[in-house]
Amino acid sequence: MAYADQSAYLLPALCWCYLYSVFFVGLNSVNLSIDINTVKGFLDPEEGRALYDAANQVLALGPCLEVGSYCGKSTVYLGAACLESGSTLFAVDHHRGSEEHQLGEEYHDPDLYDASIGRMDSFKAFRKTVQEAGLEDVVVPVVASSRVAARHWATPLSLVFIDGGHSRDAALTDYRSWSRHIVPGGYLAIHDIFPDPEAGGQAPYEIYQLAIASGAFRALPTIKTLGLLQRL
Ligand SMILES: C[S@@+](CC[C@H](N)C(=O)[O-])C[C@H]1O[C@@H](n2cnc3c(N)ncnc32)[C@H](O)[C@@H]1O
Repeated sequence: MAYADQSAYLLPALCWCYLYSVFFVGLNSVNLSIDINTVKGFLDPEEGRALYDAANQVLALGPCLEVGSYCGKSTVYLGAACLESGSTLFAVDHHRGSEEHQLGEEYHDPDLYDASIGRMDSFKAFRKTVQEAGLEDVVVPVVASSRVAARHWATPLSLVFIDGGHSRDAALTDYRSWSRHIVPGGYLAIHDIFPDPEAGGQAPYEIYQLAIASGAFRALPTIKTLGLLQRL
């Protein structure tokens, strides 16, 4: 009788634990093997989580690629998904910083400045992140400009994440260079989507709109400033 009484409490308790882990822990955290707050970068955790989820959905279709890795924040989220599915992330960045990272600009970080050559260099920090996150067998760093890296590219991609230069020219080059390699069903993710010009630069939003207007992509719900599109 005592046993029956206990099990009456145990079952609801187990159900509650299960639901808690699925809906709260499962939805809000990703197992990243690194404290993501120690990685310098510009990606919101919700956006990172959305990238991770999107990659998980399509990695069976092929490897993925990001333009703009900086110190590796987005790399960690995409890399974690690749690690789980045995896939590969190509991480394209010349590591010389975007316009806003240069000496005297708003987002300049003196820790990432190589005074001996008078240039930005985020590659050392990027490598450290990839190593600490246990992603060296998953991430292929491509240390080159997006345009040069794309010149002879021929590998179909399941997901492309664009977060490189935010000038109109740079964003257009990234869009034209990489979106054509996304397989049907795959994703194009674009960071820093600001429909309101008062809120932020318009180049990423411009390529987001170009993708929709091309008829080759359908828009999915935007996560904070992360635009997500699916290749038709
Ligand atoms: C906004 S940061 C990327 C942030 C990163 N995704 C994160 O999660 O923190 C932009 C990066 O793009 C790189 N970049 C800018 N223009 C580029 C280009 N034309 N080719 C390759 N990399 C570029 C810069 O070196 C910089 O590291």
